[in-house]
Amino acid sequence: MINRLVVIGLGLIGSSLAAVARKHGLAQQVVGISRRESTLEIALQMGVVDRAEPSLAAIASELGAGDLVVIGVPTLTVPAVLQDCFELLSADVSITDVASVKSSVVEAAEAIYSGMPAQLVPGHPIAGSEKSGVTAANSELFVEHRIILTPNKKTGAEHFKLVSDLWAATGAIVSTMDVQEHDEILAATSHLPHFLAYSLVDTLASMGDNSEIFRYAAGGFRDFTRIAASDPVMWRDIALANREAILTILDQVMDNFKEMRSAIDAGDQDYLMATFTRARDARNHFGKILESKALQTGIQSPMTEKTINYLISPGGNAQGDLRVPGDKSMSHRSIMLGSLAEGLTEVTGFLEGEDSLATLQSFRDMGVQIEGPDQGRVVIHGVGLHGLKAPSKPLYLGNSGTSIRLLSGLLAGQSFDTELTGDASLSGRPMSRVADPLREMGALIETAEGGRPPLKIKGGQSLVPINYKMPMASAQVKSCVLLAGLYTDGQTSVVEPAPTRDHTERMLRGFGYQVTTEGSKASLSGGGSLTANRIDVPADISSAAFFMVAAAIVRGSDITLRHVGVNPTRVGVINILRQMGTSIELSNEIEVGGEPVADIRVRYAPLKGINIPEDQIPLAIDEFPVLFVAAACADGVTVLTGAEELRVKESDRIRSMADGLATLSIDAQPTADGIRIVGGQIGSGEVQSHDDHRIAMAFTIAALRASGDILVHEANNVATSFPNFVGLAQQVGIKLALTES
Ligand code: S3P
Repeated sequence: MINRLVVIGLGLIGSSLAAVARKHGLAQQVVGISRRESTLEIALQMGVVDRAEPSLAAIASELGAGDLVVIGVPTLTVPAVLQDCFELLSADVSITDVASVKSSVVEAAEAIYSGMPAQLVPGHPIAGSEKSGVTAANSELFVEHRIILTPNKKTGAEHFKLVSDLWAATGAIVSTMDVQEHDEILAATSHLPHFLAYSLVDTLASMGDNSEIFRYAAGGFRDFTRIAASDPVMWRDIALANREAILTILDQVMDNFKEMRSAIDAGDQDYLMATFTRARDARNHFGKILESKALQTGIQSPMTEKTINYLISPGGNAQGDLRVPGDKSMSHRSIMLGSLAEGLTEVTGFLEGEDSLATLQSFRDMGVQIEGPDQGRVVIHGVGLHGLKAPSKPLYLGNSGTSIRLLSGLLAGQSFDTELTGDASLSGRPMSRVADPLREMGALIETAEGGRPPLKIKGGQSLVPINYKMPMASAQVKSCVLLAGLYTDGQTSVVEPAPTRDHTERMLRGFGYQVTTEGSKASLSGGGSLTANRIDVPADISSAAFFMVAAAIVRGSDITLRHVGVNPTRVGVINILRQMGTSIELSNEIEVGGEPVADIRVRYAPLKGINIPEDQIPLAIDEFPVLFVAAACADGVTVLTGAEELRVKESDRIRSMADGLATLSIDAQPTADGIRIVGGQIGSGEVQSHDDHRIAMAFTIAALRASGDILVHEANNVATSFPNFVGLAQQVGIKLALTES
């Protein structure tokens, strides 16, 4: 605990910190310092401080180690207070500040102390409100808000600990940052919006009699300008203290404004649509980025989503006729190839799930104009194989292994550098499987430890074609190498140990690019071009699989799934379920854009345990979580071997399923490369999804045959592949409710 917490300046932040310290006993004594007598009186009356003093001099001689002085005055006043601290405080008193700009504080400290003093830990709570002053003191102000500390090499560990522990005890989430990075980020995300809001209100306010305007100003104006009611002194100080960073970002916005003005003047619909769509999607994507950053770093933001859990009651009839969302693999590839093609590509049936949206956003980040998605329709203004532009920041690929692995191939051949990042799950997945062959082709790729993301890809390398014998059956690796092959002078081939999904090869052909397949070898020659195409993405058999198994395990069930992609490299789930006894009929079999499609009708028949043929593994690779549920409902034992790849999916799917099934009283024994499941009565209980969409959905289906409720923790990631899963599950009679935690 802190001995004495001395807060200089009882504005909103200072007085709120004092209030929370008193409320939770974070210091033995809380002292408030203000030059205004009335402020001190109010602070004492409100119980914000234990003791009030008019100046630091009045208390300085009492302070020593374990005491903390917090400088809570406006940014431009900080140097004067630092001067007092220098003159009055001994070197063992800890000091921090709360100013919104950090470089000006550090510069002042260096000048006054002739170098950064170890006792000073610069800080910035990213919390506040448009209210100011001691009367607005709020002991909850910092809860779940970020506090950024910007210590440097000279900062004393004991001082850092004192400051950081205090902030953590207020409920805030503490992180550290470099001073300059802090100021640049804040200029863009906090300072600029305030100046825009002040400027807009001021513009309207100066338009003659503005009472009418404000009367009609509705939600948009109110939302946009809320922050223009903030403290003018504080913002004046910030504008001056963070001048350079603010001017840079302000110039960018002004250029953008000018462009927008000309576009409106010229009636340029395309510009406006592209800008608004890009911005809207970036805004939507933003929430997700913040959430995932929170996961990785423990930093939470106010935009952090709640954890969604599924509570499923047993029973349900598994009846219905439905169309599940578009195929994820094809949706990714449609954006990639559409972007690299010349001309306009129209995609229908596009999966509006977070994974394929991450791919879409990446191409927008690389300058491709993409309209939509609007009810599955996307229009891509292709830029050609050499038309991508350097993104201004790392490409964030969320949870999506397909995005990062396919993109790495394609980006290895670009002229610019890129960095690829993802969420906590993706950041733990192996990338050497793509980095190794790409390096053989001459790519320069850096991975994090253990061959994990982020991937840093150096542009401007000339790639050479290879003949790659894949060590594992992976469509992502095959596709990655083929996409890199587009950027070589010669023929690139990939040989696979077992057939894997061939959507890349088929879709490339659809874009007029020659790809040859001879047995297990797929080849293409670099240097060609792709011609824009129309793509109709069928429903995803990997999503349909959940309802196929639902029908397979419930007596009397009958479910028809419409317009499902039944590419022979994807139908393992049909083959395996049929072998276990399920009745599955295909009808309306047609070919759409080079991909076979059919309606699939599934009806209950008693299931029996089987030894799953190893040749079916790559053809059903994503369907095993729900196939294990079928195995749990079957008569006898089901054994899977040769499926070690399941251990490196969005979670270790062998472990996730074995643990969950065991919780539900099923005898499920994991092995190094598979699992042995003895059919039985599924019990009730709480299972973990390990943030894996398919694990969450598999246990939802299991509830149809459970003896009691199943609670599936952390189902948020279902939105990566199957955004309307809950609605469709309820539609076929599954008793599913959402809970939040
Ligand atoms: C995919 C290939 C498979 C699959 C993934 C999608 C693709 O991964 O599990 O969901 O779109 O190429 P691997 O290549 O790692 O087997």
